[in-house]
Amino acid sequence: MSLHNIQNMKGTSRRKFIKSTSAAALGGAMAFNIGLPKSGFAANSDTLKIGLIGCGGRGTGAANQALNADPNVVLTHMADIFADRVDQSMLNLKKMHGDKVNVEEDNRFVGFEGAKKVIDSDVDVVILTTPPYFRPEQLKMAVEAGKHIFCEKPMAVDAAGIRSVLDSAKKAKEKNLSLVSGFCWRYHTPKRETFSRILDGAIGDVQTVYNTYNTGALWLRDVEPDWTDMQKKMRNWLYYNYISGDHIVEQAIHSIDMMSWAFGDAQPLKATGTGGRQSRTGKEYGNIYDHFAIEYEYENGAKGFHFSRQQKDCSNSYGVEMMGNKGQCVVDCIRGRHTIKGAEDWRFRGDSNDMYQQEHDELFASIRNDKPMNDGEWMAQSTMLGIMARMVAYTGQTITYDEAINSEEKLGPTHIDANTVFADPPVAQPGITKFF
Ligand SMILES: NC(=O)c1ccc[n+]([C@@H]2O[C@H](COP(=O)([O-])OP(=O)(O)OC[C@H]3O[C@@H](n4cnc5c(N)ncnc54)[C@H](O)[C@@H]3O)[C@@H](O)[C@H]2O)c1
Repeated sequence: MSLHNIQNMKGTSRRKFIKSTSAAALGGAMAFNIGLPKSGFAANSDTLKIGLIGCGGRGTGAANQALNADPNVVLTHMADIFADRVDQSMLNLKKMHGDKVNVEEDNRFVGFEGAKKVIDSDVDVVILTTPPYFRPEQLKMAVEAGKHIFCEKPMAVDAAGIRSVLDSAKKAKEKNLSLVSGFCWRYHTPKRETFSRILDGAIGDVQTVYNTYNTGALWLRDVEPDWTDMQKKMRNWLYYNYISGDHIVEQAIHSIDMMSWAFGDAQPLKATGTGGRQSRTGKEYGNIYDHFAIEYEYENGAKGFHFSRQQKDCSNSYGVEMMGNKGQCVVDCIRGRHTIKGAEDWRFRGDSNDMYQQEHDELFASIRNDKPMNDGEWMAQSTMLGIMARMVAYTGQTITYDEAINSEEKLGPTHIDANTVFADPPVAQPGITKFF
């Protein structure tokens, strides 16, 4: 589990955490890096070059894992819309990886155009870790440019974005490019073992999957008075639904992804739900909700129930409970427990792994062995389940999967740069907000 998730569960605000530890600036899994700075690294014709787009907590963490994944990898290009984020990220990575971080001044890009410059450079692999609004377009550019890709979840904020991601994933396959997603639990050994047992029938037919992502509140970052309105929003992008997708898409999606995994990534027929904002109502919290409750209906009468909130000083939970006609399974992400009660009782007792490192170990091995990986379809569908959930909660309507994926909803402007002026959509009101 990433550090920010653990802190969240324990009720510490992410903001306090960022202030209290320098490791936080490095993103979740940075704490797992135990390597010493590597000096004397010299690039050669087999060196894989990496470009990092979005140099925040997760981007820095992912770059660290990429640099750990293969001895012959070098980080050569970085882009972020804020200079301090590029500088801090590079400093932290340099401390750990020495000469394997070789980003010349001309290859450090600050601004909204930087992503394209990194993608158009001679890098072999791009790491896409900006807020999700930008993901579909950056993914498309990266596939067109023939790059291997690590892209964080969620993959988009709306259905049009998901359709674009599916198209890019298909093209990546045709071009033999590897595409690995940041749905990290799918790379976690205990969960891989647990879910493979579920899919092999350990609890019979899966009939109900209850999943939660109930956490505390997240950070608010300081902004400079001379920044443009859009720069200020970008610094606190979580709270604008057109940039983050809302917290059900941006964060609780991890639990929804595990629900989908338990159902063998089958498409639900439809969903109904509710949500709102009760504790996080100030202007500084943009226009997102702070809680959701969703019911998904599947073809054979199976149901998925999702419950998430970002409200401080409430009880937390993060996990998945699966009920089948022959048993049940509990995955508790806070306590790290994986248990099955069925024809044969089982609990995971093996060694756990660093799932964030695993993502990159597999990505780089796939590139070296010329055996491309492609998480495209399921990563897009899992994200779509979160978008569909937001649609039903915002509108108060029952919406089918087909309607959701074909939706023409566009939450934000068609293009964002520092000078974009955009009036935030009002906080959604069920029964009043329309589905498009
Ligand atoms: N898998 C996980 O466990 C996990 C954990 C944390 C975050 N994430 C995901 O990673 C992504 C980033 O999250 P984070 O916590 O690192 O956020 P962050 O705010 O720390 O970092 C995002 C960075 O992207 C930059 N940015 C914004 N727009 C950009 C653009 N157009 N071009 C270049 N840079 C841009 C921001 O300035 C910021 O520095 C999100 O999608 C989030 O959901 C995943």
